Amino acid sequence: MSDLHTAAARAATLREQIERAIHEYFVLDQPTLSDQEYDRLFRELQALESEHPELRTPDSPTRRVGTPPQSQLAKHEHLVPMLSLGNAFDDDELRAWEDRLVRLAGDEIRRAGYTTELKIDGAAVSLTYEGGILVRGATRGNGTIGEDVTANLRTIRQIPLRLRGNGHPPRMEIRGEVYMPFDGFERMNEERVSEGAPVFANPRNAAAGALRQLDPAVSAARPLRFFGYAMAVPPGVPLPVRTQFAALEAIAAWGIPVAPHRARFDSLDAVAAWAHRLEHELRAGLNFAIDGGVVKVDQLTLQEELGVVGGREPRWAIARKFAPDIATTRLLAIEVNVGRTGAVNPYAQLEPVEIGGATVKLATLHNEAYVHGKDLRVGDWVQVKRAGEVIPQVIGPIPERRDGSEQTWSMPAKCPACDTLIEREEGEAAAYCPNVACPGRRLEGLVHFASRGAIDVRGLSYARISQLVEAGLVEDVADIFALRVDDLVPLERFAEKSAENLVAAIAESKTRPLARLVNGLGIRHVGDASAQLLARHFGTLDRLAAASKEEILAIRGIGDEIADAVVAFFGDASVRRLVRKLRERGVNFTEPEAVVEGGALAGKTVVITGTLPTLSRADATRLIESQGGRVTSSVSRATSFLVAGDEAGSKLDKAKALGIDVIDEAELLRRTGRPSQMPGELAR
Ligand code: IVH
Repeated sequence: MSDLHTAAARAATLREQIERAIHEYFVLDQPTLSDQEYDRLFRELQALESEHPELRTPDSPTRRVGTPPQSQLAKHEHLVPMLSLGNAFDDDELRAWEDRLVRLAGDEIRRAGYTTELKIDGAAVSLTYEGGILVRGATRGNGTIGEDVTANLRTIRQIPLRLRGNGHPPRMEIRGEVYMPFDGFERMNEERVSEGAPVFANPRNAAAGALRQLDPAVSAARPLRFFGYAMAVPPGVPLPVRTQFAALEAIAAWGIPVAPHRARFDSLDAVAAWAHRLEHELRAGLNFAIDGGVVKVDQLTLQEELGVVGGREPRWAIARKFAPDIATTRLLAIEVNVGRTGAVNPYAQLEPVEIGGATVKLATLHNEAYVHGKDLRVGDWVQVKRAGEVIPQVIGPIPERRDGSEQTWSMPAKCPACDTLIEREEGEAAAYCPNVACPGRRLEGLVHFASRGAIDVRGLSYARISQLVEAGLVEDVADIFALRVDDLVPLERFAEKSAENLVAAIAESKTRPLARLVNGLGIRHVGDASAQLLARHFGTLDRLAAASKEEILAIRGIGDEIADAVVAFFGDASVRRLVRKLRERGVNFTEPEAVVEGGALAGKTVVITGTLPTLSRADATRLIESQGGRVTSSVSRATSFLVAGDEAGSKLDKAKALGIDVIDEAELLRRTGRPSQMPGELAR
């Protein structure tokens, strides 16, 4: 008993120390414990709790990790409905809102003041605290009933499992927004690109998706954060504060992050000025997305009096939305550029204009048909739109503002980069430059070759490639592999270290599988997917280069257009010279063993551990991959089975703990249909 007493006291101390460290790190941004100290405390608590399960509490930091996945999300009914907001798009609409309030509640409104907050562009959630302890977290859902995402929300370390301070109502819901900061969003998308997973369009979708994951481990791996902005208590229960501003202060004092730039103003004029500052100054300094500000009547009694319209939107609050990212400017010129496949497309040169905090000078016009379809003329006033990170677009002209001096445009007859006559293929709208040696095409081709989906040379950016071309160091893609540190150091913006890094990155890129090389070569109509089909089928660049149209057409998924393009490409004498140069420079020409389509292990994720009796690690990997399986290095719930040999260690323990199938080499050989396979044969 006294043993349990001591353990209970120790667990309570640990919990407090750990949660304090989490708060200091994630909310205050002032860490006081080192990672090692933190880990040591955390492991001690985990050990205590597994020894004495009766000591587990719902607010223990160990609850933030290791919750098993669910098969579906349960429903949760909100204490009081989660409302949405009406919008005001400009100062006039904001004033009209106040006028309505004055008609309803009298002149007192103008004296009672407003609290203003950021309108966080994330996913709304509600956190239920009972006796100060987080017991439930839910999405907004339809406003009345949401989904229970407690396990996922517990992984967000900014959300306290136990409220700090005191004065919290015995049962209440904290309302707020889960969001993903820009830097975390970008890092996550970069990782997804390198894993071949689809990227998220914006941080809001990423946050909302992460929140509704069935496996809390997936949510935990996403960089989610939280801001609280309101509290709700059961009907009839008094709130501990009298104004919205005080509510925000209380929420912050309980250890919940509250968004920056919140303020209280006495007049609507001051609110309007704040909204302008938010849109034009403050917004640019934020590491997360907002889509406006929120203005709330500060006095809670007045809020009560004003009530809710249609059970959905409170009268006492309004979203002051930002102007859409559209601007009006002059179309100074229509220029064309040539892409790597030779396609020649127009773009707009604009009188510089600020849109959503950035100066825009260029915008895409897609293709020739777009310019004529919109009847765009040089000299027109045009509307330009910028959405997020995408390239600005010309929406269309404002014909009323024409004075007759505007000029219609037509596609030039010659390529802007090499003066070759522009051609049009029958049935294709696009104009294109047929000159394979065109310097414009060449530059774009080099950029494509070095890009992520192709040979992927880290650090070889557009600007660097242009620089190398201008310096006469690179003419074709094979020249990249001849670059030496001494060639680079004399160039502007290169130092010894950056030159060494680039040369190392280039050396590494030589080993990419054939599919990436084929994609990088920029054969017409051959993208990422068809490059893979070709590489897997032929296995080596030499076999692909020697293939006839019929042989290529035999591949499922490859049609006439691609087959013709491949044959024409390798039939070109300059391409054959290029292939020779690539070989001399040591670029890999082979694809790892072709995967059997619909192989015995298609879709399976396999981990190998320990020493297998006959197969080397590499052999076993090749065998699994040749049957469509994927080999990864660590055991997780996603692992289909573990192949264990002698001296298997922690991976075997983990697989057993997770209930994952464990097999030996003989079983692997049986499953891959090669029970009598000799290892030597595999190695070939
Ligand atoms: S107050 C009073 N405050 O905006 C009623 N909402 O368009 C409701 N939002 O569903 C919310 N930041 O998800 C409020 N500071 C803030 C907010 C905020 C973001 C979201 C919330 C709501 C949506 C309404």
